[in-house]
Amino acid sequence: MPLAPQRISFSLVLATQGHHSKYLFYFVKIAYKAALRKNLTRQESEHSVIELKNAAFSYGGADILTEMNLRLSPGSFHFLTGPSGTGKTTLLKLCYHALLPSSGVVRMFEQDVRAMSRDDVAKLRRRIGVVHQDCQFLDHLSVAENVLMPLQVSGREDEMASSNLMELLGWVGMADHAEAKPPELSGGERQRAALARALIMSPDLILADEPTGNAAWEMGQRLLSLLVVLNKMGKTILIATHDLNLIRTAKAQVSARVLRIQDHRLQLAGADL
Ligand SMILES: Nc1ncnc2c1ncn2[C@@H]1O[C@H](COP(=O)(O)OP(=O)(O)OP(=O)(O)O)[C@@H](O)[C@H]1O
Ligand SMILES: [Mg+2]
Repeated sequence: MPLAPQRISFSLVLATQGHHSKYLFYFVKIAYKAALRKNLTRQESEHSVIELKNAAFSYGGADILTEMNLRLSPGSFHFLTGPSGTGKTTLLKLCYHALLPSSGVVRMFEQDVRAMSRDDVAKLRRRIGVVHQDCQFLDHLSVAENVLMPLQVSGREDEMASSNLMELLGWVGMADHAEAKPPELSGGERQRAALARALIMSPDLILADEPTGNAAWEMGQRLLSLLVVLNKMGKTILIATHDLNLIRTAKAQVSARVLRIQDHRLQLAGADL
């Protein structure tokens, strides 16, 4: 029976073993290490921050979203795009469990929240920072007080000394507006304050819904670069936006995947963007 090509080459190596045995051992060792590494990588990539399995959602009538399958792995950067009204905000709400799917499964940090207590779900949600599309604030409180609100609500206010708060506000370029009231802010300033509020709990995942929607182009770029820096620090990022120029700019800075909602379904957009 003829030998398969791999077996022939393996036989040749064995035939010249006297000379090559130490190299053979070396290559086997390398291959073994590579296989181990691959296995480890697979184990790592099995962890997901958010996972949707055949999830669907409707507000009562027809499905807005259907057959949603998505896996956000730790440290990934995704954009979510699609025309107005296609369900971008709805999908983000499913991700942080502000809405529950009408069918299918949505897992947060590998946990199926249907089997969890409300307290445990609340704890898990603290690992997610959300920049809401409408950036709502309590208008009678200052920017600093609004940014601190999530810590206050979760009883962790002491953890953030005021110097850290100022550092965070400085990082988003809002230190000078710490004492301002939200109605005094411009659209871009509101969005940077909303980003600071989303970051105050040091989340692992940042969901940003049109974070540059009310900002001028330059300010949008600045917000984007903050999100890119956060991603380089290891945070997982998902940004809903209809701004294709923003996506193009981001792709030059970070390895980002683009998801698109079309016909109620989620698709991976091609490289044509
Ligand atoms: N609370 C609600 N009750 C009923 N229908 C809703 C509700 N919220 C949103 N919708 C509808 O669901 C659809 C998806 O809305 P969604 O806000 O997710 O879209 P979007 O893609 O984020 O749009 P935009 O780009 O304008 O922000 C829209 O048709 C909207 O009218
Ligand atoms: Mg929206």
